[in-house]
Amino acid sequence: MCDQVKKAVAKFGRERQYLLEILGYLQTGRSYLEKETLLAVAAELDIPAAEVYGTATFYSLYSTVPRGKHVIRICENAPCHIDGAAAVLEAVKQHLGIDVHQTTADGLFTLETTSCLGICGVAPAMMVDDDVHGNLTPELAVSILGKR
Ligand code: FES
Repeated sequence: MCDQVKKAVAKFGRERQYLLEILGYLQTGRSYLEKETLLAVAAELDIPAAEVYGTATFYSLYSTVPRGKHVIRICENAPCHIDGAAAVLEAVKQHLGIDVHQTTADGLFTLETTSCLGICGVAPAMMVDDDVHGNLTPELAVSILGKR
């Protein structure tokens, strides 16, 4: 992974302002960022490891723990909440048999909640991997997961 970190730094730059881009690059195609990767990024950028870890754990698009093949993020902000996000979340939890921050036993799905996905006009919304879905009902959300 150290080679990948050097590659990312060469691509984006050694400045702290590129930390998000570097972490995104390093997580592409992987389910999480390992501790060794975070330490290598801190060393390459010459910034505290706590800052890199803090960034990686603050943003829901990054993870420092292994996740499933597909990551489901259900928006929990007010517009989605008002339009039924809690019912969508409950249906997905029941369908998968897991709670938020858990992964199915087969490793296929990890369930997360997230802040606004930027499509409040079609609330409630969820994101499955890189695909955003709106105007959800509990049934539609479960149906979308069944196609994975
Ligand atoms: S509040 Fe849910 S998409 Fe904006």
